[in-house]
Amino acid sequence: MTEKEVLIKIEKVNKSYPLAGTKKLDVLKNIDLEIFGEEICAITGKSGAGKSTLLHILGTLDNPDSGRVLFEGMNIFDKKEKELALFRSQKIGFIFQFHHLLPEFTALENVLIASMISGREDSGKALEILSEVGLRDRADHKPSELSGGEAQRVAIARALINSPRLILADEPTGNLDTENADSIMRLIFELRNKFRQTFVIVTHNEDFARKCDRIIKMTDGKISES
Ligand SMILES: Nc1ncnc2c1ncn2[C@@H]1O[C@H](COP(=O)(O)OP(=O)(O)O)[C@@H](O)[C@H]1O
Ligand SMILES: [Mg+2]
Repeated sequence: MTEKEVLIKIEKVNKSYPLAGTKKLDVLKNIDLEIFGEEICAITGKSGAGKSTLLHILGTLDNPDSGRVLFEGMNIFDKKEKELALFRSQKIGFIFQFHHLLPEFTALENVLIASMISGREDSGKALEILSEVGLRDRADHKPSELSGGEAQRVAIARALINSPRLILADEPTGNLDTENADSIMRLIFELRNKFRQTFVIVTHNEDFARKCDRIIKMTDGKISES
C-alpha cells in the first residue's frame, strides 16, 4: 500500500430502530471510523452488534439518524436520492452471504445487468471479469447450474463490473464450506492486489479476519477495537 488515503470517514454516526410504543433500540452509538484506500478491513463482533447496519450505512442503503459519512471527502447523505443511486452504482459493489443471483439469467447476464444499471453495459468486460474469478467456462450457466462457491464468485464478478472503489461484503463466506471459503478469501486478496479496490468485510471467519489488513471489532453498537 502507498500513502494512506482516507477513502471514507465516519463521524459521530448514530442509528436506532423504533420499537413498540415510544421505545427505541440504539444500534450504532456515536461511531467514528476511517477506512483507508486499498485496505481490506474485517468487521467482527457478536450477532446483533450492529455490523450489518454499519455496512448498510457505508453503502448508502440506509441513512444514519445523525452524524456524517464522507466518501472521498464528500458528505454522501447530502446527495438527492437519484444522485445517490448513481453514486452507489458507480462507486460501491456489494457482496452478500447468499449470492442473490437472478435465477432465470446466466452468470454472464447476472454480471451484465449490474453494468446496465450504471449505464455502461459491456459484455467484453463482463467476460473478462468472469475470467478473473475463474469462471469464464461457466458464463452460460444459470445459478442452479453452479456450485455454491461458483455462485459466490459470480456475485463477486457482479460487484466488480463497474470498477467500484469500495466493495462491501456481509458474511461473504458464511454460507460456504471451508475449502470454498478459503478460495473466496484468496480471490478477494488477489483482486485487491490487482485492481486496488478497498474492501470492508463483515465476517465470523476468524482465519479470514486475521489475514485482513485491519480488524474492526464491534460490541453493542460501538467500535471496541480497531
Ligand atoms: N429494521 C430493523 N428494525 C428493528 N431492529 C432492527 C432492524 N434491523 C436490525 N435491527 C436490530 O438491530 C440490531 C443490530 O442489527 P445488525 O446490524 O443486523 O447486527 P449484526 O449484523 O451485527 O448481527 C439487532 O439487534 C437487530 O435485531
Ligand atoms: Mg449482520
